[in-house]
Amino acid sequence: MNVIHRKGWEIAEREATPEHLFLNRRSLLKAGAVLGAGTIAPGLSSIALAAEDPVTPEDVGARYNNFYEFGTSKKVHAAAQALKARPWSIKIDGLVEKPIEIDADALIKLMPLEDRVYRHRCVEAWSMVLPWTGFPLSKLVDYARPLSGAKYLRFETFLDPKMASGQRSFFPWPYVEGLTMAEATNDLALMVTGAYGKPLDNVFGAPIRLHTPWKYGFKSIKSITKISFVEQRPKTFWEESGPGEYGFWANVNPQVPHPRWSQASEEVIGTGGRKPTQLFNGYGEYVAGLYKGLENEKLYI
Ligand code: MTE
Repeated sequence: MNVIHRKGWEIAEREATPEHLFLNRRSLLKAGAVLGAGTIAPGLSSIALAAEDPVTPEDVGARYNNFYEFGTSKKVHAAAQALKARPWSIKIDGLVEKPIEIDADALIKLMPLEDRVYRHRCVEAWSMVLPWTGFPLSKLVDYARPLSGAKYLRFETFLDPKMASGQRSFFPWPYVEGLTMAEATNDLALMVTGAYGKPLDNVFGAPIRLHTPWKYGFKSIKSITKISFVEQRPKTFWEESGPGEYGFWANVNPQVPHPRWSQASEEVIGTGGRKPTQLFNGYGEYVAGLYKGLENEKLYI
């Protein structure tokens, strides 16, 4: 990375943001209630670890997705429109001072929104670069006021097989993911509420999803309805589905192959090309320290 400002991962928006997105700020601000734009201005920043990689065009990024609730194909954009993303309620419970249930838009309004351009690396060896709007997960952790016994966050997606045809299949629904408290409070862990300067399209996991860009994409759970603070490591959807192939940590590492394919390189969606995969998807400087003392864990599966 050539340009290092402030925390090392922040650069001025005009340097990081593709022109169409920069110009789109107006529509983003207009989206007010949905994106919580009232709180955007003071802390507005763009995280540009991906600045050297071109942003994936919207008509590519929103047409090549994984959202198994609506089918196993990459072409789930149309099917995902069945998702009723509003009104949307989110439960925050478990080891917290006071469990609550809050409307997603009410929560978003309370949070400091930022734009961040993130690399996204799927375990299936493809990647994109996505311009998100969202807030640091650490802010939600502060808001939740966890008790000292809380060691992990457990995230859950909605369960509604009537609405989501994919949930009529054999998978262990609902989709569940988890992070340690240290991971959840790392600056890079982002709760995503918008993409391409607009509120999240359903296919990206509206109205609110996670993105942990140093981990394989399956950790970045979509359409979250519940966040529980827990003492035990949660069993995740993919660990239940294929324990030999998908683990809890799932940090990107080109030297640790998936049991069925290499992780050394990735297809860059929309370009027809491939590039070498980077350790922690290029974010090692900011996250490698999270794993000190955990060397006996399967950190890269
Ligand atoms: N979250 C839910 N609820 N359901 C899913 O099927 N797929 C995961 C992750 N989060 C998934 C999910 C996988 S495998 C990937 S690669 C990313 O979402 C895809 O995110 P994208 O469609 O925004 O690229």
